[in-house]
Amino acid sequence: MPKFRRIGVLTSGGDAPGMNAAVRAVTRYGLANGVEVVGIYEGYKGLIEGNVKVFAGNDVANIIHQGGTVLYSARCPEFATEEGMQKAIRNCEKYKIDGLVTIGGDGTFRGATDISSHGIPTIGIPGTIDNDITATDESIGYDTAMNTSVKMIDNLRDTCESHARCDVIEVMGRNSGYIALNVGIAVGATAACVVEVPFSEEEIIEKMRQSRANGKRNFLVVVSEGLVGYAEGLTKRIEEQTGIESRFARLAHVVRGGNPTLADRVLASTMGIKAVDLLLEGKSDLVVCKRRGHICTSEINYALTLDKLFKSRYAGYKKVDEEKLLSGLSDEEKQKMFDFCQNKLNEMRYLYQICDTLSK
Ligand code: F6P
Repeated sequence: MPKFRRIGVLTSGGDAPGMNAAVRAVTRYGLANGVEVVGIYEGYKGLIEGNVKVFAGNDVANIIHQGGTVLYSARCPEFATEEGMQKAIRNCEKYKIDGLVTIGGDGTFRGATDISSHGIPTIGIPGTIDNDITATDESIGYDTAMNTSVKMIDNLRDTCESHARCDVIEVMGRNSGYIALNVGIAVGATAACVVEVPFSEEEIIEKMRQSRANGKRNFLVVVSEGLVGYAEGLTKRIEEQTGIESRFARLAHVVRGGNPTLADRVLASTMGIKAVDLLLEGKSDLVVCKRRGHICTSEINYALTLDKLFKSRYAGYKKVDEEKLLSGLSDEEKQKMFDFCQNKLNEMRYLYQICDTLSK
């Protein structure tokens, strides 16, 4: 087993509520296991610049409930260059960082594999509100972002009901429709429009016409931001074609902040502990996942490949050359990946149907 002097922890990419709980877990659990923990500020940028602090247990006190990330986050094009990578590796040596825990999304994980390939064991933790890491059922921040979205939309519903209006609400999620689908169900939306599941605008509008004829006053339509620019146009068409006065609302970054929910705090704490355990067991290049209620792992490259496959097939990303992407894998391994993606898609279709079936 490798002997760790220090473990570094960083957050990178878009922040997500619960990241602080993960930083706290990595720090406290690392210290409890006799390993020093170094907080690295502003993600990979901080690693390159040596913006680090050796943490005592108290340095992560009073952060479990805070949104954002106390380690901050920053974009770092330099990290993508070999020169930047060398600076990062030199700083790992300088600050005696023998292993890293990186918390973020797919961009963060690409950085993590690069670092591991340069000899620093690295474990990724999915921290993104988008829940777009295909290998895990849940990422840190997703639950909070959904709950915040629901709270905002419940407020909109009040005013829609008073004025007999329709609100078309665009929610975050980048190219992933998970937030939109779950939020759509939770607010009782007429429809939840996402990239992954085909839908008929005519049917949505017709449903609204009939419901209005039956006396329904308020209407909510949730649209994933992956359908770039769609929500505003839809708002106009609803008003033109149904006569229902309609408003457009974009929730955007307001749902990325705020106190993490219980679920996110627990997920982050569990994943933080798992990440440290993996490093101490001598593992590297893994992302901590949660599937069917259990914490498990996936190789980072496998997780990134799954993402590319899923997003190219179903989420409107640029099409990948699947043969090239999956070259080197056996037919059985390929089939496993196809099935995994298909199951995710089926789950999304099911969510779409629940929303559609239950709304009147
Ligand atoms: O990945 C998190 C996320 O909030 C997405 O939902 C959204 O598309 C994007 O980041 C916004 O990025 P930025 O914070 O750079 O505007």
